[in-house]
Amino acid sequence: MLVDINEELLEETSKKIEEEYNQEVVPVVCDVSNSKQVKKMADQAFKEIDNVYILVNNAGIAANYGNDLLAIDEETYDTIMDVNLKGQWLVAKFVCQKMKSQKFEPLAGKVICTASIAGIVADGAICVYSISKAGVIALMQCLARNLAPKITVNAISPGYHVTGIYEDSEEVMRFTMEEGHVKTPLNRLGTVLDIANVAVFLASTDSNFITGHNFPVDGGIVEVGVPAHYLKTDV
Ligand SMILES: NC(=O)c1ccc[n+]([C@@H]2O[C@H](COP(=O)([O-])OP(=O)(O)OC[C@H]3O[C@@H](n4cnc5c(N)ncnc54)[C@H](O)[C@@H]3O)[C@@H](O)[C@H]2O)c1
Repeated sequence: MLVDINEELLEETSKKIEEEYNQEVVPVVCDVSNSKQVKKMADQAFKEIDNVYILVNNAGIAANYGNDLLAIDEETYDTIMDVNLKGQWLVAKFVCQKMKSQKFEPLAGKVICTASIAGIVADGAICVYSISKAGVIALMQCLARNLAPKITVNAISPGYHVTGIYEDSEEVMRFTMEEGHVKTPLNRLGTVLDIANVAVFLASTDSNFITGHNFPVDGGIVEVGVPAHYLKTDV
């Protein structure tokens, strides 16, 4: 089941998966920040696909609102927090209640949250986004404690990956990185596959003994922690 607020993108991606992988997809339009819609989506999931073994909490937005935290208007703050943080809580709330009682062994299910390296080291250029993603990391740890031993909960924290959030443009991404004086120790931009590979690992039985962890996938930006001007890299 694929869930997104954007019906057009949802149909396009569903079709792509069906064609490329011969895998039936149930597309559902839902605003993850709206509890009524999330409840309806979760009910539909358990009705139409029998069980939910893997939940990937991935929806997120990064609006352009300037870097002065004190000047950001309340509506912008609420929208970002509602989608990025409350959304992941709402989806977990309505899906994991039922996931917990599934009779699979040794685990009843798995949850993968999408945080960000901006939630590990706050990025002053995207303050509210950073606050929301730091919240996602705490939410993931709380869920991991609450849902053990039946469900594992982990997070992936992407670095800089060319996707819709960067208008699918390498140029926009490079500009953003230059503005923030960001350099990548592994000297390349992130790809969607870099994230998908870790998600597949977290969804597989190979990760059954891991819960409550946040996995930065960022070419070393956060963990290596070297000031950008020390790195002899182009990216
Ligand atoms: N691309 C990066 O470099 C990067 C870095 C750090 C974290 N992330 C995180 O990765 C996740 C995926 O983002 P992406 O980079 O693929 O961007 P994206 O814009 O391509 O994907 C985000 C998706 O979320 C959907 N969405 C937005 N608001 C929604 C709502 N209210 N309800 C349901 N769906 C909604 C959008 O329609 C879109 O399809 C996000 O949580 C983002 O914060 C991305």
